[in-house]
Amino acid sequence: MKLTEEQIQQFDTEGYIFLPSCFSKEEIAVLNEAATEIYASNRKEVWRESSGIARTAFAAHTYNEAHSRLAAHPRLVNPVKQILKGNVYMHQYKINAKAAFDGDVWQWHQDFGVWHRDDGMPEPRAMNIALFLDDVTAANGPLLFLPRSHKHGVIDAGHDVETTSYPLWTLDRETVTKLSNQGGCIAPTGPAGSVIMFSSLLVHASPPNISPLPRTIVYLSLCHVDNHITQYKREEWIAHRDFSPIKPLTDNCLTNAHTHDANVAAE
Ligand code: SIN
Ligand code: MN
Repeated sequence: MKLTEEQIQQFDTEGYIFLPSCFSKEEIAVLNEAATEIYASNRKEVWRESSGIARTAFAAHTYNEAHSRLAAHPRLVNPVKQILKGNVYMHQYKINAKAAFDGDVWQWHQDFGVWHRDDGMPEPRAMNIALFLDDVTAANGPLLFLPRSHKHGVIDAGHDVETTSYPLWTLDRETVTKLSNQGGCIAPTGPAGSVIMFSSLLVHASPPNISPLPRTIVYLSLCHVDNHITQYKREEWIAHRDFSPIKPLTDNCLTNAHTHDANVAAE
């Protein structure tokens, strides 16, 4: 998949691109089945809400076959290589559950703000791809974006270790309000299989999910290989140390039952 000039322009001005229904129902079923198994396991990489239900499964691409394929999927990796202009490595990989009834809030933050302060990532030459594994609606805790907020560099933030089970560098209400006056506040919603690409500087959050419907989203956080992290304070499964360039697989790698090797795309 290649982004058009218009899409690249939108990414630059708004800070994100929304691509509805990029992955088929069959592809999403493979990933969802894997996510259910992972959440049910006792792995250290599964971060839990204070209620005990799974919040995030980190690094699933290192221990699960379906997710290892998604981590090198050409529909995700190639557009990012296009935007970041070069080879990319996986800085972070997470499957966020936002469970029915109990899925907790993600406070207002910039991902690069966290990666820079905690992991010593030099520049915001990194970005996120979100793939919906469930339908995301207004009801089940969608991502919220402040469009155009990525134009302000790294914004002052405080280290919040109390609101949720997961510590985060978060923005105060006054800053969020000011930024929303510029580009509003939006919630991209759509069917399972939809994709959002967003800048690592874009300010975002998500409300708790009190609906009876889960809202699982996989995030690939990809970074230019020349811009890898320099500080190793966090666990290796949260901020990865493998800086080797991702080699995209073939487009049918999720549903093709053959070996991994058969899915390696021609150089
Ligand atoms: C994040 O910002 O990293 C996660 C937000 C969400 O999954 O709702
Ligand atoms: Mn984030």
